[in-house]
Amino acid sequence: MKSFQTTKDIWDANLYDHKHSFVSKYGNSLVELLNPQQGEKILDLGCGTGDLANALYEHGAKIVGVDKSQNMVEQAISKFPHIEFMVQDATNLDYDHEFDAVFSNATLHWVQPADKALSGIYKSLKQGGRFVAEFGGKGNVQTIINEIIQQIQETGFEFNRSQFPWYYPSIAEYSTLMEEAGFRVTYAQHYDRPTPLDGENGLKNWIHMFGKNLFEGLNEHTTNEIISTVEHNLKEILYNDGTWIADYKRIRVIGIK
Ligand code: BEZ
Repeated sequence: MKSFQTTKDIWDANLYDHKHSFVSKYGNSLVELLNPQQGEKILDLGCGTGDLANALYEHGAKIVGVDKSQNMVEQAISKFPHIEFMVQDATNLDYDHEFDAVFSNATLHWVQPADKALSGIYKSLKQGGRFVAEFGGKGNVQTIINEIIQQIQETGFEFNRSQFPWYYPSIAEYSTLMEEAGFRVTYAQHYDRPTPLDGENGLKNWIHMFGKNLFEGLNEHTTNEIISTVEHNLKEILYNDGTWIADYKRIRVIGIK
């Protein structure tokens, strides 16, 4: 099995654990959907700092957690030394009929090409194994993205589509890719999940943590000015009773090999 290290690691594992822990908290209901069984071998694809891998482990499963970010994997190993974690790119999986399940929470919107990831996931599974995933779907955080792009353009800069870091498919599109990879899709859902962001600076922190690519080529001062304007303009829409609510739209899928 090959490990894969990226050249640029954009992830701050401490910030992720302290200010964005909601990512794993929401994932607990995906663990329920997976329904891990004692003794199953499960791949946690995009394990982040390991909280859900540990939840799976506590169900008695044998877990391998992989993430593209070295920072995240190092933090996962220090928090959960009893679990096997390693750096790996979801589009370069190299497992063959090894897992009873592949589990992935809040990761696949970062992964392209999706068909390449799906064929690796499919190959990783034993016959009859299941793939259970949740990630950002079509229209995810659209209000925030639209406002950022508008402000970048109004400040006089071009916004290039190649700076858009995410893949937000519809369930029709993603289910089709799953079928093309060989899966029988037994479940597909696209739902709204308004997501409270931590604290008064929740929106600003979210943009700094997840949306850095959108500001590629802009200096720190301009980026911060744009983010302040975005905050100001979205306050009426997304700020309620002291809490920022991001307009998440998720897809959930189950595929059987
Ligand atoms: C999501 O989980 O949907 C998500 C998280 C960070 C950035 C974009 C989307």
